[in-house]
Amino acid sequence: MFRQAKGIFFIGCGTSYHACVSAAYVFAHTAGIHVNTVIASEFSNYEKFLTDKSLVVALSQSGETADLLDAIRTAKRKECQTISIVNVVGSTLTRHCDLNILMNSGPEICVLSTKSYTSQLAILLMLAYSMSGRLNEGKELIKKVCENVSRVIDNNLETLESLAGELKENRDFFLIGRDLAYPSALEGALKIKEVSYIHAEGFAGAELKHGTIALIDRGVPVIVLSTERTRYLILSNAMEVKARGAYLIGIDSVDNELFDYFIKVPDVNHANPILMIIPIQIFAYYLALARGCDPDKPRNLAKSVTVK
Ligand code: M6R
Repeated sequence: MFRQAKGIFFIGCGTSYHACVSAAYVFAHTAGIHVNTVIASEFSNYEKFLTDKSLVVALSQSGETADLLDAIRTAKRKECQTISIVNVVGSTLTRHCDLNILMNSGPEICVLSTKSYTSQLAILLMLAYSMSGRLNEGKELIKKVCENVSRVIDNNLETLESLAGELKENRDFFLIGRDLAYPSALEGALKIKEVSYIHAEGFAGAELKHGTIALIDRGVPVIVLSTERTRYLILSNAMEVKARGAYLIGIDSVDNELFDYFIKVPDVNHANPILMIIPIQIFAYYLALARGCDPDKPRNLAKSVTVK
């Protein structure tokens, strides 16, 4: 379906949308395939570009998100090919799509998407690698991730808890990343916001200086998502905010003197987003606890958003 498509769209909401953005980078880098990523609620604006040759891939944990179901109905009306990547078996989304890729993450009880996000990333990474005839290479990367998940958690659990205690009164958090680490910055910010109720924003590293740098002041925490491929440039962006007094929390495979605080995450190339998000998810969890918030049931949120 991917090979035959003329125009591929990845659509989703919230965290699922961030997985779409992440996957678009992997498809570009590994398979040389261009993918459009669209927030599901905005998808109808693209209706005039849809034909029976378009492929629409809908990402969802629940398979019940109203905005996404609406978008997939638009795609069906235009006779597009449709695929879901979904966790809940038998959900409405699975009944609408031509093909369903089941995530098999198990029930996700907490309102926040966590394991469903990493699962979406893993599936899309393997899809992208298989598109370039390198499925085994993709699987090896996923195995490497698996070997490192517990290590990243064990090595950082206590320090993330104390960091959360230290930073819990902050008004804002900023997260920066380039390339594949950019969607991770968006997702990290969403996790912090929804569970701790602290304002957080994720940016493409170079974008901060186009306005938001005005908000950087002494002690403002900036989480820097750095990888081997992007290190040189993201550290130059980090330096810009450090010079304005930011408190830098670096996530990378190697430490840097710029960082006030360092979280070591092994570099696993295109699978970096899967590993990188884990310390941020844990940090958000500890922020919630430190602030007396319920990390499973944040206020004003439901597990599936079934209204438009
Ligand atoms: O079930 P879905 O993946 O379709 O849900 C989409 C969003 O509502 C969901 O990812 C939401 O953003 C989560 N609260 C994020 O943690």
